[in-house]
Amino acid sequence: MHDREEIFEALTKLGHEPSYYVLDGRNQTLVALAKCGADLIVNLTESYAGDDKMDKNIAAYLELIHIPYTGGGPHALLLAQDKSIAKKIFDFHKIKTPDFATSYKGRTDHSHDIEFPLIVKPVSEDGSIGIDNGSVVDSVKELMERIHYIHEEFDSPALIEEYIEGREIYASILGNDNPEVLPLIELDLSKLPKGTPRIAGQDVKFDHDTEAYKVTKSAPVEDLDEEIAKKLRDTALAAYRALKLRDYGRIDMRLNKKGEVYVIEANPNPWLSSQAEFAMAAKKAGYSYTDLIDKIIELARARSI
Ligand SMILES: Nc1ncnc2c1ncn2[C@@H]1O[C@H](COP(=O)(O)OP(=O)(O)O)[C@@H](O)[C@H]1O
Ligand SMILES: [Mg+2]
Repeated sequence: MHDREEIFEALTKLGHEPSYYVLDGRNQTLVALAKCGADLIVNLTESYAGDDKMDKNIAAYLELIHIPYTGGGPHALLLAQDKSIAKKIFDFHKIKTPDFATSYKGRTDHSHDIEFPLIVKPVSEDGSIGIDNGSVVDSVKELMERIHYIHEEFDSPALIEEYIEGREIYASILGNDNPEVLPLIELDLSKLPKGTPRIAGQDVKFDHDTEAYKVTKSAPVEDLDEEIAKKLRDTALAAYRALKLRDYGRIDMRLNKKGEVYVIEANPNPWLSSQAEFAMAAKKAGYSYTDLIDKIIELARARSI
């Protein structure tokens, strides 16, 4: 079941009268949206007309037509989308994030003094697009080839980041004035086939038939010292605030053996499927799926009052 159907069901249970509205990339659907009569929109858009940088424009449009909507505003969607901007903001706030450089067609936009191993990714994709076993590089030759691949395949600057060996931990955050960090979830990558990097590539996230998908799973993490767990929660909250995320968001982090916490990225409007990490964390905190949707709606509604 898609998250939109689960949300539809939850809204019905809550006594709302939901309906679907699909922005299919044609201008008519944008124009008609202004007259659709909705009191509030649960914004599940991730792209417009196939362009996934346009999610911010949809949020901005909803503001122009004065329909309250859930989740991040245009500024948050812009800041989080471009990982190099997000990382510069994290640096400013002293939120630890891997040192990095960006490169586009031979031009360097920004560079720390970085050391191998490195991971190379498109600067602004999501869903692990462009992230696979070839992403982690140990030599200049591999690095150059991978930068070239990112340019060719995605016509995008490459983000070249220090690779952080460690546990992969997600913090789901709910709220605005006083956001609540829900129980931490770990994606256990330790059982990935030998010789492959411990990363959540596309296979781990989506390719049900692969070994990588079958041997990895997310679950609430129970074995952390309270001090480390607090550091993870505080770091995630700082990142949520720094990028002005709203209502709900998920911060992806790495925890290394020394107990250092790195923010890998911030996700405004993370996937709301009942099977995904956000709902898993909410459940662990005692929210039913319906409670969770109710809470998100109420947070959005409070903005428009
Ligand atoms: N600097 C890094 N160190 C270690 N692993 C990383 C790093 N950057 C990304 N990864 C791995 O790649 C995955 C996807 O990267 P991410 O930047 O979150 O992309 P997406 O936006 O597509 O989710 C992460 O969940 C993590 O497993
Ligand atoms: Mg991610």
